Amino acid sequence: MFNWNDKFAARAAHMKRSSIREILKLTQKPDIISFAGGLPAPESFPVERVRQAADKVLRERFNDALQYSLSEGLPELRDFIAQRMSRPGLTLTRDNILIVGGAQQAIDMIGRVLLDENDRVVVENPTYLGMLIAWKPYNLRYATVDTDNDGLRVEQVEAIFRQKPKLIYLVPNFQNPQGVTLSFARRRELVRLLNKYQVAVVEDNPYGDLRYSGEDIPSLYELDSNQVIYLGSFSKIVAPGLRVGWVAAPPPILDKILEAKQSTDLHTSPLTQMIIHEVVKDGFLDEHIPRLRALYRQRRDVMLQMLERYFPPEVQWSRPDGGLFLMVTLPKHVPAAELLKHAIQHKVAFVPGDDFHVGEAGRNTLRLNFSNAQLTQIEVGIQRLGNLLKEVLVKEGGLFALP
Ligand SMILES: Cc1ncc(COP(=O)(O)O)c(C=O)c1O
Repeated sequence: MFNWNDKFAARAAHMKRSSIREILKLTQKPDIISFAGGLPAPESFPVERVRQAADKVLRERFNDALQYSLSEGLPELRDFIAQRMSRPGLTLTRDNILIVGGAQQAIDMIGRVLLDENDRVVVENPTYLGMLIAWKPYNLRYATVDTDNDGLRVEQVEAIFRQKPKLIYLVPNFQNPQGVTLSFARRRELVRLLNKYQVAVVEDNPYGDLRYSGEDIPSLYELDSNQVIYLGSFSKIVAPGLRVGWVAAPPPILDKILEAKQSTDLHTSPLTQMIIHEVVKDGFLDEHIPRLRALYRQRRDVMLQMLERYFPPEVQWSRPDGGLFLMVTLPKHVPAAELLKHAIQHKVAFVPGDDFHVGEAGRNTLRLNFSNAQLTQIEVGIQRLGNLLKEVLVKEGGLFALP
């Protein structure tokens, strides 16, 4: 038998499968109510628009749509994004924008062009699992910063910046997994520290448009575009299956990411870029985003109400102003991964928080997605989970014990 294990590169030893993708396989049975994935609501997909756009593109521009294309991305889509991101005092052009196959691809390529083995990188703890997985091969030294209801605790950052990290990775709006948002005052202070210590920042913002309460806050990129690599995505505002996102960044870093892009996949599919452009170019997002907000606001509100009603008082959770997730904190002695095994028997699923954390923290946390399930499923699912938790917590010392 040929032994592939002997052939893997050393860096492949650090790679691992996404636990969420593994859990998603388990939860795809129709009788399980899943709060596990980060999936948008399928009923929100603009199917008819996409169909018409695909028809039009294939009828009128099939040669460009099906041919090899520019690595930078479709010029008219880059213009659209540049215009949408421009603000008074911040004018973007297509030269500031690179189209990628989803923000996830950008995270992977940023790793390749900026990170060396053992580099010091600053992250929120917990942080986005897809970033931790993408950057795993670099064997990074993470410096973690705690978060509270106002996001990253910026007062912890200066001491870390003194140690000259290469970059900080952040999801400032409705973070995945916690749902928390970095306040305006903290953004300003963070930008001051980034300037003072010359640290680069990756601002990953796939959820920025999905705000259900509170006021929009300027991005770090708006506050100071020189040190920021901004990642945007159509996944949550049009459809993730089209795999189109973008990077907005200063030319030197954008050029390097472009080189990585050329060796990764040459370019993002022109067909999907043209479809997206056709869908969004005439003001569609101005109607669609309010619809998404209304849909997800209701789902968030129902989930929060059900948590109040059915979860035992020892359990806490975040109350996000937007995005797709909230995070639940169980009493210290209850490991969420163990709870999940029982939850699946009770036909409800979530993602345990361990993997979002750097280090040993977070074993008593779990992430709940509220965008994908219907309202009645949210009601039934949270009740099931609440009943299970009550059962677990009345057992003396808890049903489970952490080793
Ligand atoms: C924080 C964060 N970044 C990036 C991504 C990936 O987005 P995309 O679909 O654009 O690759 C996700 C998706 O869930 C995410 O939550």
